[in-house]
Amino acid sequence: MAFGAAAGAACAVPGLVRAAERPPGGSLADLAKAKGVRFGSAVGAGKPGSLTGTLDDPGYRQVLIDECGVLVPENELKWYVLRPDAETFAFERADRIAAFAKAHDIALRGHTLLWHHPKWFPAWLSNYDFGSGPAGKAKAQAMLTAHIATVIKHYPQIDSWDVVNETIDPKDGAIRRTVFSDAMGPEATLDVAFQTARAFAPKARLVYNDYMGWEAGNEAHRTGVLKLLEGFRKRGTPVDALGVQSHLGTQDPAASAILGQPQEKAWRAFLDEVAGMGYDLLITEFDVNDQNLPGDVAGRDAAGAALAKAYLDLMLDYRQTKEVLAWGMVDKYSWLQGFTPRKDGLPKRATLYDDAYKPKPMREAVAAAFRAAPVRA
Ligand code: XIL
Repeated sequence: MAFGAAAGAACAVPGLVRAAERPPGGSLADLAKAKGVRFGSAVGAGKPGSLTGTLDDPGYRQVLIDECGVLVPENELKWYVLRPDAETFAFERADRIAAFAKAHDIALRGHTLLWHHPKWFPAWLSNYDFGSGPAGKAKAQAMLTAHIATVIKHYPQIDSWDVVNETIDPKDGAIRRTVFSDAMGPEATLDVAFQTARAFAPKARLVYNDYMGWEAGNEAHRTGVLKLLEGFRKRGTPVDALGVQSHLGTQDPAASAILGQPQEKAWRAFLDEVAGMGYDLLITEFDVNDQNLPGDVAGRDAAGAALAKAYLDLMLDYRQTKEVLAWGMVDKYSWLQGFTPRKDGLPKRATLYDDAYKPKPMREAVAAAFRAAPVRA
């Protein structure tokens, strides 16, 4: 949405974000759209009955309304939130986000139909006994397809889906083992997920999403993802794009020094191969982990902004890059506050806006990258 439009809209929160504080030059959604890219953010539904969650916070809602052309529920569509047991679908939390997006004319992405990583399966599912042989396989397939069909049908507004998330083990590049892959076979599990998604969302962008990065140490992960994407093409599995999570600095705190170094060549070679197979690219979970940078706020903000600009320039240079999603827009709500806390206990500055809803240098870096980006169809 345009800033001007948001300022006059009934949804604006008077007094919380004054027009004068808004960055000039248009919203990130508009700057991206001018280049054929969609910009948005992940958001949490908030805690029922409390004012601490992100959608419960009027200041945060205003940032989303002002800046985002697309939203994605941060956790609310994952099995561990949506599926308390084998029979139940708890849609209420994701429904809140879907209703908010609709009310403000913001598109919706889905994350994720199958986080194919045993760590993130609910306990009841990890312990589920499908039985063995063809009957077990059929039972597993029935549960997976019913889940995907039900969720997709519940959210017809979702036009871009992370169908499968993080299935490649970074250690050896193999497909991770779960109760589904044990019953159905690894490739078949993933193929069924994508085929079911295509059957029920024929027009949606279907994405394989993962966190392989350019940093040294990601070689096996990248190789595994390439092999997976090749396999999808060989078998005719309907996959449209690779989601590159882009949690920058998570694996390598010195990442800001890396772009332009030898690792960049390997990263571009990886992206070239992905694009060469006909896949689009999405940045699905952008943030910058300042875990190990010195505490000084101005220094951290400058480093985060520089890394964001260099990274987005590289990624947007690929005309295949069609969506850019931040993994949260305001520092205090970033998952990184709890995931890898700083040793000095200072809050991280991982996102585009500070805790007073003021744009940070990283917000300007993202805007500058969109302004500089080539146009795509
Ligand atoms: C994270 C959320 O941000 C946290 O709130 C939650 O506790 C764990 O998951 N890769 C993904 C995302 O694909 O789903 C993860 O989101 C971050 C890493």
